[in-house]
Amino acid sequence: MKFRLELLTSALIGGALWSAAQKPVPLYLDDSKPLESRVQDALSRMTTAEKIGIIHAQSKFSSPGVQRLGIPGIWCTDGPHGIRPDVLWDEWEQAGATNDSCVAFPALTCLAATWNPEMSRLYGESIGEEARYRNKNVLLGPGVNIYRTPLNGRNFEYMGEDPYLSSRMVIPYITGVQSNGVAACVKHYALNNQEVDRDHVNVIVDDRTLHEIYLPAFKAAVVEGGAWSIMPGYNKYNGEHACENPTLLLDILKNDWGFDGVAISDWGAVHNTEKVAQNGLDMEFGSWTNGLNWGASNAYDDYFLAKPYEKLINEGKLPMSQLDDKAARVLRLIMRTEMDRNRPYGSLNSDEHYAAARKIGGEGVVLLKNENNLLPLSPSKTKKILVVGENAIKMMTVGGGSSSLKVQRELLPLEGIKEYAAGNGVEVAYERGYVGDVTGEYNGVTTGQDLSESRSAEQLIADAVKAAKEADAVIFIGGLNKSDHQDAEGTDRNQFSLPYNQDAVIEALAKVNPNLVVVSLTGNAYAMPWLKDVPAVVQGWYGGSEAGHIIADVIFGEVNPSGKLPMTFAKDLTNYAAHAAGDSLVYPGVNGDVVYKEGLNVGYRHTDRLKRGNVNFAFGHGLSYTDFSFGNPTASGKEFDGEGVFTVTVPVSNIGQRNGSEVVQGYVRDVKSSVERPDKELKAFRKVNVNPGETENVTLTFDKSSFAYYDPSTHMWTVEPGKFEILIGNASDNIIAKVPVDVKETITWSDSVR
Ligand code: BGC
Repeated sequence: MKFRLELLTSALIGGALWSAAQKPVPLYLDDSKPLESRVQDALSRMTTAEKIGIIHAQSKFSSPGVQRLGIPGIWCTDGPHGIRPDVLWDEWEQAGATNDSCVAFPALTCLAATWNPEMSRLYGESIGEEARYRNKNVLLGPGVNIYRTPLNGRNFEYMGEDPYLSSRMVIPYITGVQSNGVAACVKHYALNNQEVDRDHVNVIVDDRTLHEIYLPAFKAAVVEGGAWSIMPGYNKYNGEHACENPTLLLDILKNDWGFDGVAISDWGAVHNTEKVAQNGLDMEFGSWTNGLNWGASNAYDDYFLAKPYEKLINEGKLPMSQLDDKAARVLRLIMRTEMDRNRPYGSLNSDEHYAAARKIGGEGVVLLKNENNLLPLSPSKTKKILVVGENAIKMMTVGGGSSSLKVQRELLPLEGIKEYAAGNGVEVAYERGYVGDVTGEYNGVTTGQDLSESRSAEQLIADAVKAAKEADAVIFIGGLNKSDHQDAEGTDRNQFSLPYNQDAVIEALAKVNPNLVVVSLTGNAYAMPWLKDVPAVVQGWYGGSEAGHIIADVIFGEVNPSGKLPMTFAKDLTNYAAHAAGDSLVYPGVNGDVVYKEGLNVGYRHTDRLKRGNVNFAFGHGLSYTDFSFGNPTASGKEFDGEGVFTVTVPVSNIGQRNGSEVVQGYVRDVKSSVERPDKELKAFRKVNVNPGETENVTLTFDKSSFAYYDPSTHMWTVEPGKFEILIGNASDNIIAKVPVDVKETITWSDSVR
């Protein structure tokens, strides 16, 4: 009765009296108080068992909170292109819910190809809203592992080969996600650059390469993006698994970068209680019973950071201070997300999210080649179009591993083309051309497509050729897909060439129709033996729910392409440094070790030194339907003393007929150095939209880090005095102007933010 009366009183006269009549609100629940005091207050009330409880999983994707204290748990979701369907409590299989379909955003390679941080913010905000609406508080993404080899099956989930580009692009994704009160979980920290033997491969890389190539995007994510969580990967570095690696987790992540978030293991990446407890991991997910291959059902108590850890703590063999640090980090994460009562509510499958996916995709498509301005196809001249290729009709949002989705809808490329054509008096025919992989299932989500085909390979080509002869233009839509050994988690590609006999199809089409457009949907570079015979080539990536609109928008010129390659499209596999010598130790490894002998020579840092002709399309390359010219750059000075910034302003004129966007790229070259340095390194870029006949001034900003290398003997970033050049261009192989800069004195600093 008393209880009822009080309830009534509180309802009538409000919360202030309610709390006065009851116990005061505990500090940890009072969000007017500083976060750290709340974290410590909650921690001080918890038993050892409760602390252990919050640092490991209770199901495939969740961990419990502290029920006694009313602290909610954590719900994670993949990531990174859309919100994964819910899975069963203790299984990978989808749960079969009917309210968990999502918008699939373009793959992160496509996002990186926009070279536009504003697109990244839009992406992060939108996917964060979907996560929030679905009540997930940790989004497992984005991924920023560097594109070391085009064979890596997971490159489509990452942001390309350049540490600076991926650093700038990852930050707004994170801040966008986290503006929803959802944590981004940056993955896979670090050196998870291949899928072959990914669980155990031991990466051996020199310190300078580690800091200059493989860590910057993670560092930017933590230090500038303020990521609330990070995912150490499966692989080893210097003999220790990433989840148990004190160098990566304690020295670099937590000490140097001052990370205050949660290091969440990749699913099943933990192997040893003592190591994982002491070396900096905070939270364990996805383990099997004993860290080996087979797990009993609901074996969460057996996790390395569960009962086995509790036992060692209770026996005094491991210190409570380490457990307290882990639990405090998890509490901080919960307070930043689920316990933030002011966070927005999110939204799912909204018109705005589809529009965002289409816009990002449109900006990411790269026009690689466009002889005689074949593109955009004009409905007045092109009355009959033949579309050829399996990727025109295959759903790509299902498959590929943990990034697989259950979409609310997905417009296929052929549908997008037909939709535009129908409204513009253009006839569209379709021929299969080849059969790739007709399956379409992942963890119980099926595409529902029947892609079976009974014609022989020869017949498919013959039929496509016959139809091509009658068409005004042919659009071949092929590439890779999300099946094993294509663009997929868990396996690498077996070859650099396109699979399924596609080269033969393209060559046959090129012979009979001069107006051939090849659109490749891949997350990776690939061989183009037919390149000289094909007038137009478009890199379309994986567009997600709006794939059809994204491709049609560019093909018909509704969108003027402005994407730039975030990775080098070399001619042959051996043009990539990791494959140059055909040394298995360099890739994919021998007896468990892979040695990054190529050092800094990743992507254009290597290929720009090769003879012309070894690269089909360089890093940073991408054409437009208009033309641009760069005027003479002006610099803020002639010298740089390391303080503040050095700027270069470039006038960009649109000398073509239509509005378009160009990316001004600034590479830095150390003219003479005591250590070997790449010929040039991207250190600034800016995308600018210019109207025809107009000129916009674009200012690029450089600071001391733009000129530095990492000195492994001192662990200091170092700028040597002497002459530098800032190279301005619109691709790594198209430098249009050079700006000299003099550095008078040595500048050094360490990474440590403490
Ligand atoms: C993948 C992660 C993913 C996790 C959860 C792992 O196999 O490597 O990227 O987030 O599974 O699905």
